[in-house]
Amino acid sequence: MSLLSTILAYALAASGVLTTGFTQVMPQMDPSGTLFLVNRTYTMLPVYVPEVSNANVSGQSRDMRPEAARALEALFQAAKADKISLRTISGYRSYDKQTAIYKRRLSSGAKAADVNAYVAPPGASEHQLGLAMDVGHTGASVNLTPGFGTSKAGKWLAENSWKYGFIIRYKAGWESVTGYNAEPWHIRYVGTEAAAELFAKNIPFETYIEDLQLALLLSIIEEE
Ligand code: DAL
Ligand code: ZN
Repeated sequence: MSLLSTILAYALAASGVLTTGFTQVMPQMDPSGTLFLVNRTYTMLPVYVPEVSNANVSGQSRDMRPEAARALEALFQAAKADKISLRTISGYRSYDKQTAIYKRRLSSGAKAADVNAYVAPPGASEHQLGLAMDVGHTGASVNLTPGFGTSKAGKWLAENSWKYGFIIRYKAGWESVTGYNAEPWHIRYVGTEAAAELFAKNIPFETYIEDLQLALLLSIIEEE
């Protein structure tokens, strides 16, 4: 837990707000919600397995949590209307699947630092949460490379995904906050309200969650 989370937890306990439900006031702590924060600090238990639904779109590995799968369908439809043909590359991944990917990449001969810049260790991936999708462009050789970000499809995704409740989770310049290199293909479902705010402010999800916590802490202090 960050220092802010710890202070907030004490403040919540002291104010009695915990009786109204911890996860309601700490949305990043509710894995069944859409604001659950997963990164190297906030990890998931191996046993966490969400209910998933197969998104009715082109591509492979199309499973996501139902609300995210439906939003992805709407996003891909909108892209199609703009003559952009998107495809899925990787959606829900179990803890074991993430472990296999991580180990395979580490044993591929790549430097550990390079692997860690792009692949989350087991338990630290949003893909296990069922709210992340790696998106590509049909037939594009730039898929899963930095070149996707400057492609027509990548630019379209960056400009429009928020309208359907998704954020580009890892952007250039945010590496020290998110812990990963830019991944213009990795979108994360947070719901339309949060996505609109994150897009307008152009801030990492970590910062957004910290701001939420801070606002909550201040409101508790003001009420006391
Ligand atoms: N590529 C992202 C960080 C993941 O492995 O979840
Ligand atoms: Zn991803």
